[in-house]
Amino acid sequence: APAPLLDSFGRTVSYLRLSVTDRCDIRCTYCMAEKMAFLPKRDVLSLEELAKLSDVFIHRGVRKLRLTGGEPLVRRDVMDLFKHLSKHLKSGALDELTLTTNGTLLAKYAETLAACGVKRVNVSLDTLDPQRYRDVTRIGDISMVLAGIDAAIAAGLQVKLNAVASRGVFEYEVDALIAFAHKRGAALTLIEEMPLGDTGLDRSQSVLSLRDLQADLAKRWTLTPQRHSSGGPARYMRVEQTGGHLGFISPMSCNFCALCNRVRVSCTGQLYTCMGDEGAVDLRGPLRHSEAAVERAIRAALDAKPERHNFALDRMAEPAVTRHMSALGG
Ligand code: GTP
Ligand code: 5AD
Ligand code: SF4
Repeated sequence: APAPLLDSFGRTVSYLRLSVTDRCDIRCTYCMAEKMAFLPKRDVLSLEELAKLSDVFIHRGVRKLRLTGGEPLVRRDVMDLFKHLSKHLKSGALDELTLTTNGTLLAKYAETLAACGVKRVNVSLDTLDPQRYRDVTRIGDISMVLAGIDAAIAAGLQVKLNAVASRGVFEYEVDALIAFAHKRGAALTLIEEMPLGDTGLDRSQSVLSLRDLQADLAKRWTLTPQRHSSGGPARYMRVEQTGGHLGFISPMSCNFCALCNRVRVSCTGQLYTCMGDEGAVDLRGPLRHSEAAVERAIRAALDAKPERHNFALDRMAEPAVTRHMSALGG
């Protein structure tokens, strides 16, 4: 087998986050600008190319593959890609195939995803209040997401909810979100807002430090640190009152880069080795050439993978990188 993918700090890449589209059917305020220009379709890799790229990573040691967007489920025929990738689950080459979704189309696809071997889905939901949900997403309809969550659970998928903590929305919602998630056997992960892309809004006004929030939560809930981790950046706590899990993704207040095991590929075939870095390496050209060329490009990119992001809570007013979260799906 080919040598594993190693970076210059000795970290092994075992997790690929592959964005299948930059488009989305909602417009979360911390993620996108109100008027977003999306990529012309001709710039976006075909599903066959996305499958080929995934295969290259899997042959070189990637064990976990997450499809992201934008919103991955708005991509036409994306189930064909899931079906292709499910072969790697069956052969044992892949441990986990999953996705991060806003949930609006989950009711339509939950059964097919489960049939493809998807075991868990991460669903973004920042609030349970329909009007606040509309405010956060600008155009979203929460009833579709709630139906999507129900359908996922009914299809036997394990659900994790992701909530970005924004000042003025979140403080009022977090207890209700914990109760909602844990009643359904779902974990809830809280995410610190990151300074990616210009949204037209000042993030220094909306960002909440999860370190502070956790201290506040600890006054009302008994939080017991958990050792288990899904290989992601979240630190998990058990909420003793509910028996459910609560994760904290705190890139700003608690850096986790030393354990980074992941890279990202955009829907145009650009490889990003760090969320907090502008740098990207093109894989589309090499892909149209040969698998060996793709491998060389990946290894060269990993040699330059930064040690850590350089986001900081006191530098939130300006984006640290120009690309939006929607370009890579986190
Ligand atoms: P699991 O642990 O497998 O459930 O997933 P995950 O937390 O890695 O993925 P998910 O797509 O649910 O991401 C949740 C949040 O974590 C998103 O806001 C991502 O942007 C953020 N995130 C994921 N990986 C990284 C990372 O390497 N660095 C930073 N700074 N944020 C990340
Ligand atoms: N900072 C932190 N999280 C973000 N997300 C989108 N934009 C940002 C941001 N600027 C979250 C979404 C989703 C996940 C993929 O990333 O809410 O849960
Ligand atoms: Fe869409 Fe996700 Fe961005 Fe919200 S955070 S606009 S759901 S891509």
